[in-house]
Amino acid sequence: MEISIISTSLTELQTECLVVGVSEDDSVVGSSAELDTLISDLIDSGDFKPKAGSQITLRNPEGLGAKRLVLVGVGKADSFDALAQNDAFVGLGKTLKGLPISEATIDVASLSRGDQGTQERLGYGLVWAAYEYTTTKPKPADSDSKVLERLQLVGEDSDKEHVTTGMTIGHGANLTRELGNLPGNTCTPRYLADQAVHLADRYSKLSCEVFDEDTLEEIGMHCLLSVSRGSEEPARFIILNYQGAKDPNAKPKVLVGKGVTFDTGGISLKPGAGMDEMKFDMCGAATVMGCMQSICEMDLEANVIGVIAAVENMPSGRATKPGDVVKTLAGKTVEILNTDAEGRLVLCDALTYVERFNPEAVVDIATLTGACLVALGKHNTGLLSTDDALADELFAIGKASGDPCWRLPIEAPYQKLLDSNFADIANIGGRDAGTITAACFLSRFTENYRWAHLDIAGTAWFSGGKAKGASGRPVPLLVNWLRA
Ligand code: BES
Ligand code: MN
Ligand code: ZN
Repeated sequence: MEISIISTSLTELQTECLVVGVSEDDSVVGSSAELDTLISDLIDSGDFKPKAGSQITLRNPEGLGAKRLVLVGVGKADSFDALAQNDAFVGLGKTLKGLPISEATIDVASLSRGDQGTQERLGYGLVWAAYEYTTTKPKPADSDSKVLERLQLVGEDSDKEHVTTGMTIGHGANLTRELGNLPGNTCTPRYLADQAVHLADRYSKLSCEVFDEDTLEEIGMHCLLSVSRGSEEPARFIILNYQGAKDPNAKPKVLVGKGVTFDTGGISLKPGAGMDEMKFDMCGAATVMGCMQSICEMDLEANVIGVIAAVENMPSGRATKPGDVVKTLAGKTVEILNTDAEGRLVLCDALTYVERFNPEAVVDIATLTGACLVALGKHNTGLLSTDDALADELFAIGKASGDPCWRLPIEAPYQKLLDSNFADIANIGGRDAGTITAACFLSRFTENYRWAHLDIAGTAWFSGGKAKGASGRPVPLLVNWLRA
């Protein structure tokens, strides 16, 4: 999308579509008497209420040069929070996408009240709404040919900068969504590795290294390998290294993504209903890819490492069985009581591996437990950490990004649930507190650095129905954490 800044009056402006925000505190935009008359008429007649996210589209608005006018309600200043903004701007993006236009003009000040974060979310929402999955379901050939190509912003250079930054986060989220949406027979561990290599080819500050199963065997990642033993698809371990800090030796922040490209449950086979959604079990990995692309595109001044543990979890004559004991990279033994608790088995070796980067902090991202959906639903990502400061930081950034997470505890009494008679640790803790015992398992492998875990089982995709598809969460939360 091409973006330019203009400073013409809103009355005279020649554009296919003019977008203006209307506030509940004060509906006067101020820069155009004709526009203000039009808006107050619409409000007085009851045709438009400027509550957050509401919209009205007019053709040939009276007294204006614009061919169309889209009004977007921005509510009251104190209630138009990041969540409401994301909704409103995605809604605006969908409207623009549905119009037969190739160019639009946005009055940034009236939509953002001059706030940088709001401007970023405007860019994010527009890009998020523009994404459509077409890879295995192409659009009909006769579908509307006009797509939005040019965006004019009425505002200042800094507005353009912030909207553009938001767009880079949107592009990252859309990459995450595309990888998540791809079917399991396309998006295999090898496919993820290829995509990571291609990503690194596009940016000079990003490099990529991929380990195959022979290498993983040599390194000693037996726990990770135990998950993919039943699959014909070989595992891949992917390391993306972004060197953006002025000081090349600056400690990196590290992201670790669960990349189970399909989770059948293995020998502890899942029930059939809805199992297709386990193609989304690599959304942690997809989040790492999306974040890496975003920080490359915004040329972030920081060192960041993204690690992906990619496997397919299948039952077969070679598959790991309940009761099997495997050795982790850390040297601890694990009794695998349920082969469907596989995410933690790939993550524990990845978490041990990243110690060597001497990280500033490590965040892993995983569709780890169905129990997280039960506890938090589809609104909050599960946040678990052994570091209060890091947890507080992620909580605050999530809230400010409209990409929230909610903390659950990791405490000693829960750790006991993982005791095993036959190994150092069992891979499940029983029925209770499933999200917590999963995080307890991971915590045994993260003792040497600051660490937090994001359980995105409820937030990484929309289930069933028409909206079914990956959400791109928690890319906004994590990119904003990497920038902090
Ligand atoms: N990928 C699943 C978790 C999941 C399930 C995410 C449903 C989103 C929706 C994970 O590998 C898994 O199967 N976890 C088990 C753990 C249990 C065996 C302790 C679960 O949640 O049932
Ligand atoms: Mn599973
Ligand atoms: Zn899984």
